[in-house]
Amino acid sequence: MTPQPTTGHADDRVVTNDLQSMDIRAANRFIEAEDRLGALAKNFPAGDREALHQAPLFLLPHVVRRLLFLDAMYRQILPVHGVIMELGVRFGRDLAMFDALRTVHEPLNYGRKIIGFDTFTGFPSVAEEDGDYELVEVGGLHTGDDYDDYLRAVLAEREQMAPYEHMRKFEIVKGDASVTVPTYLADNPHTIVALAYFDFDIYAPTRDCLQALRPHLTKGSILAFDELNCPDFPGETVAVREVLGLDTYAIQRLPGIGPGMPSYLVIE
Ligand SMILES: C[S@@+](CC[C@H](N)C(=O)[O-])C[C@H]1O[C@@H](n2cnc3c(N)ncnc32)[C@H](O)[C@@H]1O
Repeated sequence: MTPQPTTGHADDRVVTNDLQSMDIRAANRFIEAEDRLGALAKNFPAGDREALHQAPLFLLPHVVRRLLFLDAMYRQILPVHGVIMELGVRFGRDLAMFDALRTVHEPLNYGRKIIGFDTFTGFPSVAEEDGDYELVEVGGLHTGDDYDDYLRAVLAEREQMAPYEHMRKFEIVKGDASVTVPTYLADNPHTIVALAYFDFDIYAPTRDCLQALRPHLTKGSILAFDELNCPDFPGETVAVREVLGLDTYAIQRLPGIGPGMPSYLVIE
């Protein structure tokens, strides 16, 4: 069986595609091991609460790598005032990691709101700039229409595990971010964005949100990107090239964090 891209996420594709081009059996071994690990996770013998504590048993290496990247971004914005936005949430793992990192690094900073934007019905449209990769189609990467309610419930429970639990410190904004991000910023003109994580994968919302966010950035703000220099999703790079220019800021990656994506720039 040829391994298929499962999530459309750059990290996940790195595992699948890199191996696919080198050794299909190796990729299959990885996927089969994932299936067996999934079955073992379902049969964890010590109950649901203990399973939460033992979650590292089932953390895949590229997920740990992503966590390390997000942690590095978070540490850099500790002295920068403002909120964290994630543009393209999907099932919300990055939002959950940002929430955990806030609790670890600055539990008293209730101003560090975490705001996620997604349609939860997948790509609302695709453009010529997005190329012809198989996942790039209207509705691609959908989570199911009601997933935002599930995610709010998860994040609300997480909030009970940190100080100021009575204050809502996250927001999930559903809809086409080309519309919802400018609307959010118009409704919340006080917003400073310390970190924006771009993970739409595609051109139009990346372009529109970059334009909308620019006046809300400060020196030291970080813009991080999941798919720059990514042949499967060229639209993200085209948007950055058009709105910011590729030579305006140093587009950096974390040495030692593994192959390819993601990358980031710091507003100077
Ligand atoms: C690669 S996924 C995000 C993955 C997520 N950051 C994670 O860590 O798992 C891309 C997401 O962007 C969303 N998306 C794409 N275009 C959008 C748009 N115009 N407005 C809102 N969400 C959009 C899709 O619905 C999809 O959930």
